[in-house]
Amino acid sequence: MSQTYLKLNNGLKMPQFGLGVFLIPDGKETIEACLNAFKLGYRHIDTAHAYQNERGVGEALKQSGLKREEVWITTKLWPTEYGEGKTAVGIDKMLKRLQTDYIDLLLLHQQVGDYIGAWKDMEKAVAVGKVKSIGISNFNENLEDLLANATIKPAAIQVECHPYFPQHELKKRMEKFGTILESWYPLGHGDANLLNEPILKELSQKYGKTTAQIILRWHIEEGNSVFPKTTNPMHLRENFDIFDFSLSEEDMLQIAKLNKGKRYYTATLAEQEHFKQWKPAD
Ligand SMILES: NC(=O)c1ccc[n+]([C@@H]2O[C@H](COP(=O)([O-])OP(=O)(O)OC[C@H]3O[C@@H](n4cnc5c(N)ncnc54)[C@H](OP(=O)(O)O)[C@@H]3O)[C@@H](O)[C@H]2O)c1
Repeated sequence: MSQTYLKLNNGLKMPQFGLGVFLIPDGKETIEACLNAFKLGYRHIDTAHAYQNERGVGEALKQSGLKREEVWITTKLWPTEYGEGKTAVGIDKMLKRLQTDYIDLLLLHQQVGDYIGAWKDMEKAVAVGKVKSIGISNFNENLEDLLANATIKPAAIQVECHPYFPQHELKKRMEKFGTILESWYPLGHGDANLLNEPILKELSQKYGKTTAQIILRWHIEEGNSVFPKTTNPMHLRENFDIFDFSLSEEDMLQIAKLNKGKRYYTATLAEQEHFKQWKPAD
């Protein structure tokens, strides 16, 4: 079983699949989830300052005995740390929390606040090697503004994406920058309706895989990066067991019928403005 990689627009190779740690409490739970994942062969963790478990991720990395360069760490800056000069301080704090001297992929978590000032500091962090690749998350209305002001074009854009909302329009918008798409809510946040879709059940029987595995393989075939969250050891193993089969063009056309053009979670720009107030604890 060998996992796949995506080549980013800066030439770096990122493991396409990983573990997302949103809503996993810091400390024992995050450390255990990451260590279990590393034992199975996972080499990519997606965290954020806002998840408040970067310390657990850093501790797991240290305890794993893996070399730093063997693991891909993505984390995200919250709008309260955006701004030239301010973001540089935020990045240094992240490095401390993660117990590392570089971050593989650093994202702007939301499209509000002084994201252009933040981007300038992120570009400087790339120049001095504190960050390898930079990208964005949840950008839509302010995407073109960011792109117009960016010297380094985003390596990745992380947004909600699953068969009910495959994000093909956004991918077209990003094509000319070579920006890859990262799927959040890849399993619809565990939604039973999605996991029990008859088309997915048929494919599940055809390949002897669960519907969750069919969905995760769909993300891989779509060329997206995907990092489902789980703390359940069975799901952890199951989710990674998707590299010994592939979906045919016909299968992909069947799954395309599930596109409802509908997200589970939509924050309007006004609601996102609210994010400027909230401050994660250091
Ligand atoms: N940038 C952003 O704004 C943003 C927003 C949301 C998420 N994210 C990232 O995306 C990651 C994934 O998103 P998510 O955690 O919200 O949603 P998700 O991965 O789509 O779904 C997680 C849910 O699915 C369940 N699950 C996992 N594997 C399963 C399986 N094989 N069979 C059945 N159920 C399964 C999990 O429960 P168990 O734990 O019981 O397995 C959990 O309840 C996050 O952890 C985070 O890293 C980013």
